[in-house]
Amino acid sequence: MALPRILLIDNNKVRTQQLEAVFQFMGYTVEAVDSTDYASCFSVTEPLCGVFVGDGIEKQAVVVGDVVERANKIPVILLINKGTSLQVSSIITHSVSHVLEWPTTHPVLKPILDRLATQTTSAAHEGSDRRSPLVERLKGKSQAIVGIRKLIDQVAESDATVLILGESGTGKEVVARALHDASFRRERPFVPINCGAIPGELLESELFGHEKGAFTGALSARQGRFEMAEGGTLFLDEIGDMPLAMQVKLLRVLQERTFERVGSNKTIHCDVRVIAATHRYLENEIKANRFREDLFYRLNVFPIEIPALKDRAEDIPLLVNDLIVRLEASNRGSVRLTQAALAVLMQHEWPGNVRELANLIERLAIMNPKGLVDAADLPEKFQRYQVPEEILAEPTVDNTEAVTAVNSEEVDLSEHMDIIAAFDNSSGSLAQLPEQGIDLKEYLNILEVDLIRQALNECNGVVAHAAKRLNMRRTTLVEKLRKYDLQR
Ligand SMILES: Nc1ncnc2c1ncn2[C@@H]1O[C@H](COP(=O)(O)OP(=O)(O)O)[C@@H](O)[C@H]1O
Ligand SMILES: [Mg+2]
Repeated sequence: MALPRILLIDNNKVRTQQLEAVFQFMGYTVEAVDSTDYASCFSVTEPLCGVFVGDGIEKQAVVVGDVVERANKIPVILLINKGTSLQVSSIITHSVSHVLEWPTTHPVLKPILDRLATQTTSAAHEGSDRRSPLVERLKGKSQAIVGIRKLIDQVAESDATVLILGESGTGKEVVARALHDASFRRERPFVPINCGAIPGELLESELFGHEKGAFTGALSARQGRFEMAEGGTLFLDEIGDMPLAMQVKLLRVLQERTFERVGSNKTIHCDVRVIAATHRYLENEIKANRFREDLFYRLNVFPIEIPALKDRAEDIPLLVNDLIVRLEASNRGSVRLTQAALAVLMQHEWPGNVRELANLIERLAIMNPKGLVDAADLPEKFQRYQVPEEILAEPTVDNTEAVTAVNSEEVDLSEHMDIIAAFDNSSGSLAQLPEQGIDLKEYLNILEVDLIRQALNECNGVVAHAAKRLNMRRTTLVEKLRKYDLQR
């Protein structure tokens, strides 16, 4: 595989040289250019994993806006001189994925770069996932899921607008894709957009596109998601978070199937099926004047409600199985669970629903490659559940070898489990030994810094409390803060 490629756009020659050296040292290829000739660097054949833009360049806002646009989802990191963060406008900080102070330190830079690398690979995973038969992926045998499958069959072939409701992680996007795949539009694009993740001022151009010069930063004309989805399906995720002004505009498209790009008066006709989803209770949003009633009625023609995972625990074994199959298919490890472990999982509340379950399975696979997980091997928070008598009475497994292996490591495992559990967001990348090897000491330092940061954040910077969270003496933590040059 080619080395991941970073684009560095900076007019500051000294900084460019230093950064180039650092990036190369960390295993990236770098293309360094100044702010006048970066356009040709966005090539399709040699994809980038990240773009760094230095500050102090002329028309900074315009350049950053243009770069973000060309980068099209590739993370853009803005480099600024230490202490100048207040001078950067919030529009810029919103549009980039990271603002990094310069000079920086290795422990700060490393996790950012690591994330770039993993984001690129996970995007690749997602891409390959999308080509598989997705209807298959809506797993479950509960009455609710069986009912949803039937609804999907009934409504897919019509062009009706569908509203998918359910808590976070219940599978709203899975259902939306299943709908698209079951419809006539399956060969055409499925275009998702998260209305809650895009700042209000950018959402309109994101949805409807814009003309060149429509606003500061619009250096070229650009298609919006409605145009990209032509003939296919547009998935408006987290529609409950859409600003009111945009709701009006969306209503019009739903009624008239026409819109204009920002900065244009040419009306565009569209043939797009809209599927919307939200974890919010829209009736409440309407009462609070945050959601338009007329839009609600328009969307609510065909609602599909996905119950929380705790209300359909009988789906858990099938979901676990499916999640393991997916792990194996993408070479991210494997794991097996005993009946007792499954029985415990079925009693849990799962506030994060299937997403939480998926994270757990992924962590278990990292901790127990090819191993067998029993109830006692599950993370701490699962230890309060009882294994039902009838399962305890049964011989647990078919795979006795694995059981012995697991048992002999039991103590260490539970210890690691808590550590792993702290890394909710880094699922997968944590214990992956890179091909070129790793500097273990440095890696552990980074983990340490990250956990210390999290503890400090949780405790609003109160060192004594953070120390308690980390089970260390306050003085030890103070020492570490000094060692890592962590600000308090
Ligand atoms: N019924 C299901 N069958 C298989 N996988 C599911 C199911 N429901 C959810 N998932 C998985 O759970 C995770 C969260 O699903 P997602 O659709 O993103 O939830 P939501 O959009 O409601 O937050 C995804 O990894 C998805 O593949
Ligand atoms: Mg979602």
